[in-house]
Amino acid sequence: MEAKQIRMREYAGTRPVRDIWVLTKDPVRALADGDVSVAIDTISIDPGMTGWITNKRSYMPPVKPGGVMRAFGVGEVTHSKSADLVVGDWVTGFTGVQTHGVYRAENLRKIDPSLAPPEKFLSGLGMTGYTGYFGMNDLGKPKTGETVVVSAASGAVGSIAAQVAKAAGARVIGIAGAPEKCAYLIDELSLDAAIDYEACDIGEALAQACPDEIDLYFDNVGGETLEAVLGLMKYQGRIVVCGAISQYGDFAGALGPANFMAVVTHSLTINGFTMRDYMHRVPEALGWLVPAWKDGRLKMREHVIDGIENFPDAYDMIFRGENHGKLLLKIG
Ligand SMILES: NC(=O)c1ccc[n+]([C@@H]2O[C@H](COP(=O)([O-])OP(=O)(O)OC[C@H]3O[C@@H](n4cnc5c(N)ncnc54)[C@H](OP(=O)(O)O)[C@@H]3O)[C@@H](O)[C@H]2O)c1
Repeated sequence: MEAKQIRMREYAGTRPVRDIWVLTKDPVRALADGDVSVAIDTISIDPGMTGWITNKRSYMPPVKPGGVMRAFGVGEVTHSKSADLVVGDWVTGFTGVQTHGVYRAENLRKIDPSLAPPEKFLSGLGMTGYTGYFGMNDLGKPKTGETVVVSAASGAVGSIAAQVAKAAGARVIGIAGAPEKCAYLIDELSLDAAIDYEACDIGEALAQACPDEIDLYFDNVGGETLEAVLGLMKYQGRIVVCGAISQYGDFAGALGPANFMAVVTHSLTINGFTMRDYMHRVPEALGWLVPAWKDGRLKMREHVIDGIENFPDAYDMIFRGENHGKLLLKIG
């Protein structure tokens, strides 16, 4: 049987990286004992993919040139030589950007499609949801009345983190890059204020929105926004560093914020993390995310692009802020 794949021809050096992708049509390998064959339904487009396409030090090894591009996906088991998964089971894991794949069953996690549509397990009920939940709850520890700022707040991770802080009773200010995104933050997520960083001076807007300074910053973007926030952090404030998307295009290496000394002068605590730190606690996140989503306390939205051949466009969209919600590529 043949499947389609998006392969990474070579490491990325500069963005746009469109030239590194190639669409191939190759046979799916035969199943060995313990393998399953999966028809991929949807894959997740993540800013973190940038870290997988250069040979720089990161939290996991890069994709090998010529290899299928790494991606989280959901799909349905079509053949099984494993005692743990049967035909018809829905699974998630590193499926790669391909229409079908053969995997070791132990590398996939079963999902329950009766709980939610499968694509939700790549959105707020999946890795991005867990990231927002643990990053905010476990590291940020927002408290009632505190001022919490979240960047890329209308996005997949940011929207969950912002709602977790709101549920804890904090005053939450979201930063996003379009009027429609800011309206979503206020009208749908009920945040206390929203800042369109594309349409204002971010430092001035933050000072106005945070008259009592900032207790907690959940950083998804780094760069100028981080610098503006550092200048407004409260004494002994906390910063959770989830990502720095504004710097991901700079394959030559980015400079840190000019006012980093604020960490010293204001006795700040900075916590970075990746979701691998929390994989053993996924059921705990689902224990909050699923009921909160079901009873309407937690909102999540997806932005779905159709067709494996549109992967290069979808990848570029996320760095231009063209996604409105968790960016997914529908393949099945
Ligand atoms: N630590 C972890 O384990 C982990 C896991 C998943 C994701 N992350 C990180 O979380 C962050 C958000 O990821 P996501 O999956 O939720 O994506 P997302 O927020 O759904 O989409 C990315 C958004 O980032 C914003 N953006 C893009 N370029 C920007 C720039 N130059 N300056 C400022 N903002 C920019 C855009 O929103 P605007 O239009 O609002 O600018 C864009 O829509 C990323 O930094 C990602 O690497 C970390």
